[in-house]
Amino acid sequence: MPEFQKKTVHIKDPAKVEEIICGLIKGGAAKLQVITDFDMTLSRFSHNGKRCPTCHNVIDNCKYVSDECRKKLHELKEKYYAIEIAPELTIQEKYPYMIEWYTKSHALLIEQRFQQDKLEEVIRDSDIMLKEGYETFFDKLNEHTVPVFIFSAGLGDVLEEAIRQSGVYYPNVKVISNFMDFDENVDLAILGGYLFVQSIEKGAKHACAGAVAEDQKRMSWNEDGRRCSGPETPIQPDQQWDRPWDTSGGLSAALQNAVDKPLIPGVIKGFKGELIHVYNKHGDALRRTEYFSHLKENSNIVLLGDSLGDLVMADGVSVENILKIGFLNDKDLEIDSDPTSTSKTDSLNKFPTDLNGQSAIRAHDAVVFQIDESLEKYMDLYDIVLVKDETLDVANSILQKIL
Ligand code: C5P
Ligand code: MG
Repeated sequence: MPEFQKKTVHIKDPAKVEEIICGLIKGGAAKLQVITDFDMTLSRFSHNGKRCPTCHNVIDNCKYVSDECRKKLHELKEKYYAIEIAPELTIQEKYPYMIEWYTKSHALLIEQRFQQDKLEEVIRDSDIMLKEGYETFFDKLNEHTVPVFIFSAGLGDVLEEAIRQSGVYYPNVKVISNFMDFDENVDLAILGGYLFVQSIEKGAKHACAGAVAEDQKRMSWNEDGRRCSGPETPIQPDQQWDRPWDTSGGLSAALQNAVDKPLIPGVIKGFKGELIHVYNKHGDALRRTEYFSHLKENSNIVLLGDSLGDLVMADGVSVENILKIGFLNDKDLEIDSDPTSTSKTDSLNKFPTDLNGQSAIRAHDAVVFQIDESLEKYMDLYDIVLVKDETLDVANSILQKIL
C-alpha cells in the first residue's frame, strides 16, 4: 500500500502488521468494528503550523468564558498537560493528576454557567478540525454499517457537534465521553446580571417564581416568560419571594410553556456519569459493557488513538484481530519552538517535585528526550505509529482493503 511508504509511518514489526491486516481482510465488514479516540486522533493536532484545539479548548477559548477564567484554565493546562505527556512518568503516577486537572477545569466551566444554546455557535467559530480524509473514513464505515465507537476523554457535547457540523455523525457512530449536564427543569436565568431561580413543577396547580438574587432585588416576568423591565424592589437578605400564580392563562401558561420548551436555555450544572479522563479508558464498565455486548461478532478491531491511555479502549472486548494505530504528535509544538524559551522550562518546572526527577535536565534536552523516548514506547505498544500525520490516509487505505 503506497500510504505505508509515507515518512510519517513507523512500524516495529511489519510482518505482524501484515498478518493482522490479512485477518481483518478475511473477516470483512461483518466482523469489523472501529474503536477510536477523538482529540488529536480524529481531530487535528495542528493546521498550518498552528495548534488546533481539543474539545475542552473550544470552550476554554470561547467568548462566553471570562478572560480571568480562561487564564486559570490555561494555567491548569500548562501544568497538567506536561504531566499527561511526560514519558518519564508512569500511567499510575499520572492518574491522580489527571483527576485533579479534570476536577478543577470542569468546576471552572460550571462556574462560568455556560449555556447549551451557545454550543453550535462556539464550535462553528472554533478552529477544531477533523483530520484530512475524514469524509472517506466515516462515509465508508457508514456505507458498510461498521460500528464506530468514539471513546473520548474530551467533551461529548463538543465532539458530537463537531462531527455533526462536518456532516459525518451517522447512525453507526456511538459516542462515549464527558457530557455536560444542563439544567432544564429549573431554569437558571442570568438576566441583567442578576441570578434568579424559577422552579416550576410540571403539572403543578400553580407555578412559583422565587427570586433570591445576590443583590437582594426581586424581579418579575412579563407575559412571554421573560424578565420585564419593571421596577426592582429590594428585599431583605433573608426574605424569600414566593407566590402562586393564577393557572388560568397569562403568565402561568407562559411559565408552564417554558417548562416544556424552556425559553431560557439550559445552563451547565455539572457533568453526567463517571468522569472519563485520559488514563481511565478501561473503566466506565457499565456503559462500555452495554455497548460491546451487542458486538460480540465484531471481533476484528481497528483501534485509533494518540495517547498511551487509548491502548486500553478495547480491553474486555472480544478480539480475534486487533490493529492499533497511534498518532504521535509533534511535541515541539506543544510548548514552543524556541529551545531556550522559559515557557518550556516553566512547564517542566511545574511538575510536582516528588515526580520531577528530570528537573535538572535542561528544558530543550528534556523535550528532545521526550520525543525520542515516546516514539520508541509508541512503537512498542502501537502496531503502526504515525508521527505528525494530520491525515486518516493510512486508516483509509486499510479500510479500503477490508471493505
Ligand atoms: O478525545 P481524547 O480522549 O483525546 O480527549 C482528551 C484530551 O483532552 C486530552 O489529550 C487532554 O489533553 C485534553 N484536555 C484538555 N483540557 C482539559 C482536560 C483534557 O484539553 N481540561
Ligand atoms: Mg486524544
